[in-house]
Amino acid sequence: MNKSYLNTLLTGAFLCLFTVISAKAQDVVIPVETKDNALVLQVTPDKLLNMVYFGSKLTDKNEYGSIAKMYNFSGTIGSYNNAYTSSGTRNLLEPAIAVTHADGNKSLDLKYVNHTVTKINDDVSLLSIKLKDSVYDFEVTLNYQTYYNEDVTEQWSVITHHEKKDVVLNKYASANLCIKAGGYWLKHYHGDWAQEMQPEEEALNHGIKTIDSKLGTRADLFEPPVFMVSLNKPAGEDEGEVMYGNLEWSGNFRIDFEVDPANNLRLIAGINNFAADYVLKPGVEFTTPKFVYTLSNKGKGEASRNLQSWARNYKIVDGNGPRLTLLNNWESTYFDFNEPKLAGLLKDTKKLGVDMFLLDDGWFGNKYPRNGDHAGLGDWQVNKAKLPNDIAYLVKEAKANDVKFGIWIEPEMVNPKSELYEKHPDWVIKQPQRPELYMRNQLVLDLTNPKVQDFVFGVVDDLFTKNPELAYIKWDCNSIIFNAYSAYEKNQSNFYTDYVFALYKVLDRVRAKYPKVPLMLCSGGGGRVDYGVLKYFTEYWPSDDTEPVERIFIQWENSYFYPALTSSNHVTDWGKQPIKFRVDVAMMGKLGFDIVIGKLKPDELAFCQNAVATYKQFSDEIWHGDQYRLQNPRENDVASIMYVNPAKTSAIMFNYLVSTRYHAGSSAIKLKGLNPDKMYTISELNVFPGRRSTIAEANYSGKFLMTVGVNPDVRDGRASVLIAVKETK
Ligand code: DGJ
Repeated sequence: MNKSYLNTLLTGAFLCLFTVISAKAQDVVIPVETKDNALVLQVTPDKLLNMVYFGSKLTDKNEYGSIAKMYNFSGTIGSYNNAYTSSGTRNLLEPAIAVTHADGNKSLDLKYVNHTVTKINDDVSLLSIKLKDSVYDFEVTLNYQTYYNEDVTEQWSVITHHEKKDVVLNKYASANLCIKAGGYWLKHYHGDWAQEMQPEEEALNHGIKTIDSKLGTRADLFEPPVFMVSLNKPAGEDEGEVMYGNLEWSGNFRIDFEVDPANNLRLIAGINNFAADYVLKPGVEFTTPKFVYTLSNKGKGEASRNLQSWARNYKIVDGNGPRLTLLNNWESTYFDFNEPKLAGLLKDTKKLGVDMFLLDDGWFGNKYPRNGDHAGLGDWQVNKAKLPNDIAYLVKEAKANDVKFGIWIEPEMVNPKSELYEKHPDWVIKQPQRPELYMRNQLVLDLTNPKVQDFVFGVVDDLFTKNPELAYIKWDCNSIIFNAYSAYEKNQSNFYTDYVFALYKVLDRVRAKYPKVPLMLCSGGGGRVDYGVLKYFTEYWPSDDTEPVERIFIQWENSYFYPALTSSNHVTDWGKQPIKFRVDVAMMGKLGFDIVIGKLKPDELAFCQNAVATYKQFSDEIWHGDQYRLQNPRENDVASIMYVNPAKTSAIMFNYLVSTRYHAGSSAIKLKGLNPDKMYTISELNVFPGRRSTIAEANYSGKFLMTVGVNPDVRDGRASVLIAVKETK
């Protein structure tokens, strides 16, 4: 065996409970292994930490030390594969970190010091690598937390210094990856209100492609911080190598994809440094948000199942628990309601058979009643004209109808026409010397101010204290931040970053007191969806666009990154599709309704009631099962997706017509994820009253269903078809 192999010190997350490794630097090779993959870091003789590999695991761990010499990471001006590229010294490509030291010097050269591996449990390990500058008392710890079975890694950095005065962080990324492949295809998203998650896929060429946000809050209105990169060729659903990433940050983010002169993909993900130089005091630790990623060599389907099971097991609140079906009143009443009207809606909630009634915007404000979106936001006192008997009455009425009660809030925001604005103009984000700018007639509160944090926490706490049986909150956030300026912050350039930390601080307090209560994350539609904030929520609102054909596309793209039980899908009156189609589309995630139940014809109501019952029968498959995308709506007349329970004994298949062409329809669609040796019974679900199914109930082997497939007979007149797949008894 080559002597250098013997000298190579291999330390993977699999090795030890807690180990500090400080060996001869040139001997250190650090593989970060998960079930199928390895990310390999290596220390050079001059103590630079490089990333040398990201791909399928090798059988012989000793061979990780031989990878670097096979690859070309260098060009005329040095190596490009630093694991956390510093700025102002040797590396002149895009940096992960740039600083201005206390003395004004802007150079940084981070060198490896040591690393530790902590085994948190059988699945989770944390690798921490300490880097230090040789001239300045400035250090960074890189953290890689692996989730072995899920093939997922979360990466973040902790930055600190002991210089004589403050240091300014000009850039402070969470992660800096270097990936070697024969080509890179980036799929990313753009959008706007009611047009979220519009995908674009492109080959990455030399130079830098950046996706980012500078909106402050509602930060992913135009671009969300999720993406996928296919390696070597665009990945398919079940083949090809593909990486998914999400910056767990609910504010300005920046993700750079740089194809360097040696053809590597350098990926740098973190808080956006736009107008956000961060002033860091000596001795204080700055912890960046986490960047979560997964890699699959079996295509987009496996990558999304990795991320979804990680999210259910480790990230979202109650990921393995149930969800509440609901009736919401936003589109059925808007701001126009009163007690008798709501009492009627509570009865409708029961009639429909869903678990909860959700009261939306418009229940508060007295001096400036919230009768439209121009006034009252910030005044969280019940509007006495609409609700003379307070929220308590509605909670009581809900109980009498045997349903739960939930409520909408938007606690980070204020209308200028409000008592809150009159009392606390200094709590509002605005430029003191410039005219105010509004989005939806409102401004954002300055959460960096601890008094504002107390106020926002108080809005939630007050509701739960006064109404202990309140079952659910929808937390909205409709405005971006114009005129970024805080009357509280000493360093204005810390503001954008501190705003998000402050939001998380408030949500931490909410969760400390109310650990499990379901919260829906809404942001004028899907303007704020990422794993940084989903950690506090049970579900999110993907878009205000509930036209069901559009929704298929939005829900489809979200499904790559987020589990179905987090996607709040409401049946509304948007568009011209019949009720069956609208309900069938909403059922592929977390089912809710926002229609006037009283306007449904008897057969429509009966259909909805049966659909709710069917949803309850299959909710375990949808919420906690494995998701398989069968036919992409962008490439086929018919979109098809299925969910299989872990035991592979029960599955549900959703099929939707997305083309209006004359002969558009389905043929056989191959199922996935079943047991080839089991027999399954196929039958149609959600058949509209008075209609006959064209799918004869029959038994097939799993092998048949996955090789030949099943034709759901989707066509004009049968535009949505749901199929039950049950192990034959
Ligand atoms: C925007 C949300 O996306 C809607 O669902 C609704 O809650 C309104 N805000 C209420 O103002």
